[in-house]
Amino acid sequence: MKGARFDSESARAAPRLMRQDDTLYTRNAVPGTAVYGERLVSIDGIEYRRWSPLRSKLAALILLGHREVPLEVDSRVLYLGAASGTTASHMSEICAGGILYCVEVSQRSFRDLVRLCESRLNMIPILGDASRPDDYDPIVERADIVYQDIAQRLQVNIFLRNLRHFHAHAGILMLKSRSMNVSKDPQRVFAEVKAKLSAEGVQVNDVVDLSPYSKDHAAFIVEV
Ligand SMILES: C[S@@+](CC[C@H](N)C(=O)[O-])C[C@H]1O[C@@H](n2cnc3c(N)ncnc32)[C@H](O)[C@@H]1O
Repeated sequence: MKGARFDSESARAAPRLMRQDDTLYTRNAVPGTAVYGERLVSIDGIEYRRWSPLRSKLAALILLGHREVPLEVDSRVLYLGAASGTTASHMSEICAGGILYCVEVSQRSFRDLVRLCESRLNMIPILGDASRPDDYDPIVERADIVYQDIAQRLQVNIFLRNLRHFHAHAGILMLKSRSMNVSKDPQRVFAEVKAKLSAEGVQVNDVVDLSPYSKDHAAFIVEV
């Protein structure tokens, strides 16, 4: 599968995402406005938002050198665990011509998410539980990609359920090993999750340990 290549050449051709040394930026869809206090900078006369790998596992994944992340400009993404939209806001700038369906269970985070989505028209906020895809199915017209970041014991089952329910062709699972088993070596948990996904018929293209940015977390990039 062809994915977005986050190298300097594609950044020049389609500068929605820029990398300068160890710093990432996305092109600000709402110029003059920061989402969570991040720095705004002008690069070649265009405003970008600094994207910290300490605040976003997706930024960590890209900075750690993974170059085939399945996000295209027109991707339709089901984002599970959007919280108040820190990462989703940057993703909405990468997938500027697509749609992000942002599912969040916490009412408190959801309030901030709704406010954010008022100015970012390709983000749709959904108050819901990611383990119950039937509940938000009527709102999600189509999802090519499932992106999940929920620190839950059953996070792998929830990911698989959503991939299947929406017939997504790709997924990114941000897995927190300690939520599945607090005492087990994270590397063992990552290996077991990879085996489970494969046994369920999901092709695991990459497993990226997100340390030092996110301790005990790994990103699983999958295809279905
Ligand atoms: C680590 S935070 C997500 C951070 C966010 N992805 C970001 O990078 O900006 C995890 C979020 O998942 C949400 N969450 C946990 N279980 C959930 C569920 N079953 N359905 C939907 N959201 C859930 C939590 O409320 C929390 O906001």
